[in-house]
Amino acid sequence: MADPLNITKGVLALADEQKTAKLTLGDKTLDLPVLSPTAGPDVIDIRKLYAQAGVFTYDPGFTSTASCSSTITFIDGDKGELLHRGYPIDQLAGKSHFLEVCYLLLYGELPSAPQLEDFEHRVTQHTMLHEQMMNFFRGFRRDAHPMAIMVGVVGAMSAFYHDSTDIGDPWQREVASIRLIAKMPTIAAWAYKYSIGQPFVYPRNDLDYASNFLRMCFSVPAEDYVVNPILSRAMDRIFTLHADHEQNASTSTVRLASSSGANPFACIAAGIACLWGPAHGGANQACLEMLREIGTPDQIPEYIARAKDKNDPFRLMGFGHRVYKNFDPRARVMKESADEVLDLLGIEDNPTLQVAKELEKVALEDPYFADKKLYPNVDFYSGIILDAMGFPTAMFTPIFALARTVGWISQWKEQISDPQLKIGRPRQLYLGETARDYTNVENR
Ligand code: SDX
Repeated sequence: MADPLNITKGVLALADEQKTAKLTLGDKTLDLPVLSPTAGPDVIDIRKLYAQAGVFTYDPGFTSTASCSSTITFIDGDKGELLHRGYPIDQLAGKSHFLEVCYLLLYGELPSAPQLEDFEHRVTQHTMLHEQMMNFFRGFRRDAHPMAIMVGVVGAMSAFYHDSTDIGDPWQREVASIRLIAKMPTIAAWAYKYSIGQPFVYPRNDLDYASNFLRMCFSVPAEDYVVNPILSRAMDRIFTLHADHEQNASTSTVRLASSSGANPFACIAAGIACLWGPAHGGANQACLEMLREIGTPDQIPEYIARAKDKNDPFRLMGFGHRVYKNFDPRARVMKESADEVLDLLGIEDNPTLQVAKELEKVALEDPYFADKKLYPNVDFYSGIILDAMGFPTAMFTPIFALARTVGWISQWKEQISDPQLKIGRPRQLYLGETARDYTNVENR
């Protein structure tokens, strides 16, 4: 198809034969430009709507709203397709590894061998935290949720890394990006160690990214720790499957925060806070807890009935998605990985995995789920693998946040370097009181 808008690497330029959408309001008819993407639905450009017609559009939850243009990740919810810079997620999960995917998301192309070596070296050189930051962990109760710790410590990075907070300086943006990707495993691991009363374990420069994280989580000073290659491969794949996902709630939070010019550490802390919710990244923890609560396959019908009951707020955690109306391609890979990891670990007849598989089967055969196009999402199987690897459920969302940091940072960099960047400032449909005069308390 000819390029009607001369889209060159995500820069929109209106072409001569512009497609338009007619909007008639009373005696007014507007021709709104229609912008065509390289993939996915056309968008109606309403940027001038309020100025031209004095009306807003109304879309709470943003079910039909494109908040930005981007070249990073594309999702086709009907096909169950997820592309990172054009590469399908199942190919990246099977053939690439997390730091290579980080490079792809950040810079737009797969790296050459020298580029990858240099990138991995730069990340490795930034894995340690400023020693003073340890004090932040110790300020929390031992039973603090690790996500609370991550929000706090990542936000506090703004107070330590002043030489990479100036978002107007491309070099500082690059340093902040590398620092965040490099330090998140250390922060997540230390949050875990703090919660179990064990000493912090420093990163090692001779280990790959996933192995380093596992060692910081599970090694103790009292004995040597050898990383299990099965676990580090599975960990790396889980990181890849969570790296980025278009304009989801936490990414949109990071974009909105960065539109005010806030520093990258503050923006990522905002993204972590948003991801924590059980409707979003918190679903992996909620899903495993749900599977454990169901306990045995014979209890599944009761929970299916509750999920369908409009008067019951219960939802099947790990099921459904705003965009995917087909299988989440990440869930497919995660399901294969769950089988593989449990088998390689010699964990047979894992009751939680049996419940998950039976629940998936029963739900997908139920018209309620089929009609509403509800399928397992990325969170449905991930918890089973993480549980088998020895992580407590409270660490599931921190691991999601660790992996998603590269997606947040890539989207942040794309937005910050957009010359047309404006602060995000939505309007509203106001349904409150109209103007009225104050009355003194004695007259009320
Ligand atoms: C992530 O956006 C992203 O890309 C997110 C993510 C990423 O990588 O960043 O993919 C990660 O957050 C995955 C989603 C994890 N959340 C869960 O697993 C929680 C359970 N799922 C839901 O709460 C829900 O499906 C959402 C939040 C994921 C999506 O909600 P939507 O798009 O707003 O859909 P909806 O709530 O309007 O539901 C549509 C219908 C409703 O029924 P009706 O009112 O039309 O009768 O489907 C029903 C819902 O009641 N429904 C469910 C259900 N999810 C939706 N019913 C039972 N169980 C569910 N899980």
